[in-house]
Amino acid sequence: MNILLTGGAGFIGSHTCVELLNAGHDAVIVDNYVNSKPEAVKRVEEITGKKVKLYEADCCDKAAMNKIFDENKIDAVIHFAGLKAVGESVSIPLTYYRNNLDSTLTLCEVMAAHKCKRIVFSSSATVYGVPDEVPLREDMFCKGCTNPYGWTKYMIEKILQGVVVSDPEWSVVLLRYFNPIGAHESGRIGENPNGIPNNLMPYITKVAAGQLEKLSVYGNDYNTHDGTGVRDYIHVCDLGKGHVKACDYAAKHTGCEIINLGTGVGYSVLDIVNAFQKVNNVPVPYVIAPRRPGDVDACFADPEKAEKVLGWKAEKTLEDMCRDSWNWQSNNPKGYEE
Ligand code: NAD
Ligand code: WQD
Repeated sequence: MNILLTGGAGFIGSHTCVELLNAGHDAVIVDNYVNSKPEAVKRVEEITGKKVKLYEADCCDKAAMNKIFDENKIDAVIHFAGLKAVGESVSIPLTYYRNNLDSTLTLCEVMAAHKCKRIVFSSSATVYGVPDEVPLREDMFCKGCTNPYGWTKYMIEKILQGVVVSDPEWSVVLLRYFNPIGAHESGRIGENPNGIPNNLMPYITKVAAGQLEKLSVYGNDYNTHDGTGVRDYIHVCDLGKGHVKACDYAAKHTGCEIINLGTGVGYSVLDIVNAFQKVNNVPVPYVIAPRRPGDVDACFADPEKAEKVLGWKAEKTLEDMCRDSWNWQSNNPKGYEE
């Protein structure tokens, strides 16, 4: 298939692009580089030895999106494009709602006009809000998100579900990612956050590299095995392979499926720090700090539906995730800026 990746220059998009090309698909990418660099796509081409057609455009720009669909026969879309920083979404909610909702609405209108009716969407475990119990199953009711970013994901799920109801020829796969970390084993592509990272693994790699002094572990009084927060960390290459399966599924079925992409295993902050230090033989100084507002004790997936419906299961270990994250950081101390 010829697959359009919106936001394909980003962290998950670039890794998914590698997996799609390796599986024999063709890829077109549209990105406005608000949180990425075109260099990531060059490196995808270098890793795979294949070419990617690249457009610099905003997905909210209807004329630009129409041009892409006029110039390419697109069989399916993976919609990664979006703003994703939870804290920032609380400070600038309108920017988040405008960008994430508008890009989706514009994309779907253009897709419908071009009779392209297959879409895989980057949703998030954030739509579960504060969980009553874990593991989280796709049919668990969401009592409400805790921030505007989460609400954009929730609303986009509703928008895409509505599209399928209105036109049953559509095929929609809503993928709820848990906590993607790691990098391609080549060390050529990886996560490239702007400024000081918000998420745990990029923070750890920058502390290990000596670019940040120490990690603050946010709270050690949670109801977990060692008191620190538990999450379902998933290797970004496993996640990429899940998208290949989701595209295959969308090509054969119509309707809408919601599917968790996680490992089903929860690790605490200290589990991650300890594994990282051991695998890479590098110290990660840390202090215990107060809880971060909005954090929950534990969040991990029930991954069974992905296996049953897509035939996909995460394969990489925590050690792989720690090793590959560090390999990317050590080979690219300034990310994509040489
Ligand atoms: P990322 O920021 O690296 O990638 C998103 C890409 O979208 C970037 O390249 C950015 O430049 C682009 N983009 C944003 N708005 C755009 C627009 N209007 N037009 C064109 N391009 C635009 O983030 P990521 O970690 O790769 O996440 C990809 C998707 O997965 C996002 O939708 C994110 O919300 C979702 N997600 C991420 C995580 C995570 O922890 N990384 C977890 C769950 C869900
Ligand atoms: C993980 C754990 C922190 C940083 C976020 C979004 C979620 C999804 C994935 C997009 C928690 C602890 C962190 C630090 C720490 N993204 N931590 N010190 O919050 O589970 O999920 O990313 O959809 O929506 O909310 O990920 O990596 O920020 O935190 O102790 O400096 O690490 O308290 O327990 P989170 P995270």
